Amino acid sequence: MRFAGRTIIVTGAASGIGFATARAFAAEGGTIVGVDIDEAGTKRAATALGPLADRVAFEIADLATPEGCQAAVAGALRRHGRLDVLCNVAGFAALHHFTDVSPELFDRMVRLNLGGVFFLSQAAMPSLLESKGNIVSVASVAGLTGNPYNSVYCATKGAVVNLTRALAVEYSGRGVRVNCVCPGSVLTEATKQTKIPDGTDAALFGVMTPPLGHCQPEEIAGAILYLASDDARYVTGVAFPIDGGRTAV
Ligand SMILES: NC(=O)c1ccc[n+]([C@@H]2O[C@H](COP(=O)([O-])OP(=O)(O)OC[C@H]3O[C@@H](n4cnc5c(N)ncnc54)[C@H](O)[C@@H]3O)[C@@H](O)[C@H]2O)c1
Repeated sequence: MRFAGRTIIVTGAASGIGFATARAFAAEGGTIVGVDIDEAGTKRAATALGPLADRVAFEIADLATPEGCQAAVAGALRRHGRLDVLCNVAGFAALHHFTDVSPELFDRMVRLNLGGVFFLSQAAMPSLLESKGNIVSVASVAGLTGNPYNSVYCATKGAVVNLTRALAVEYSGRGVRVNCVCPGSVLTEATKQTKIPDGTDAALFGVMTPPLGHCQPEEIAGAILYLASDDARYVTGVAFPIDGGRTAV
């Protein structure tokens, strides 16, 4: 029960890694505010939580806007009056040839994958300074290595990795730790629905296959909980690959 008495925001909590993370925090005694844009998805998630559902409240917000980020933090503070951990999970990927990336897709991905992490962390920081809390964001191995047909995604996740380091250093003397995890290939609805564009080079996808294959969202949640817990009190500024050996190849 490492999170008893602690309030935790988990974004993207309606699905995939965010849902598994919210459930894992709840199972260890945490009080969770799950933030997501998908209202129907949050209802399904509440049902799937079963007996843990009373530990997880949901807020609907569009984290691709600074206003949505501020509203999400305000909602959590209104409910519980404190914040101990911010978990930035919401994000999305889409495969495209570099020359097919439209300004609209670029804008949408940067606004959520980078802007969401940036502005939510900014909105949460005053409360995290009070609680001596911490931030754990979900970046990706795509933030550490080059993935083909994934140019904007790689750029946003690389930015999350270095934003993590920048905040870890800036707040190192003030009691707030900042870390991120870099998942490899996780079996979620998002990955199952990924469309491969025509005309790609199959051999390039080969280099992206992790030696240990795919993993489940719970395996990412386990690492997030470690980084968010007091067990990791000496850990800040890391980008922790949970990637089945992908970055070791
Ligand atoms: N699945 C993988 O293999 C993998 C690998 C590396 C990194 N990641 C990262 O992990 C995170 C979660 O991925 P997932 O596979 O669980 O995806 P998912 O699609 O299952 O979950 C993402 C959640 O974010 C929510 N969301 C989307 N846009 C939003 C917005 N504007 N405001 C608020 N919420 C919004 C969705 O409604 C959804 O519930 C993402 O940041 C993704 O880039 C995933």
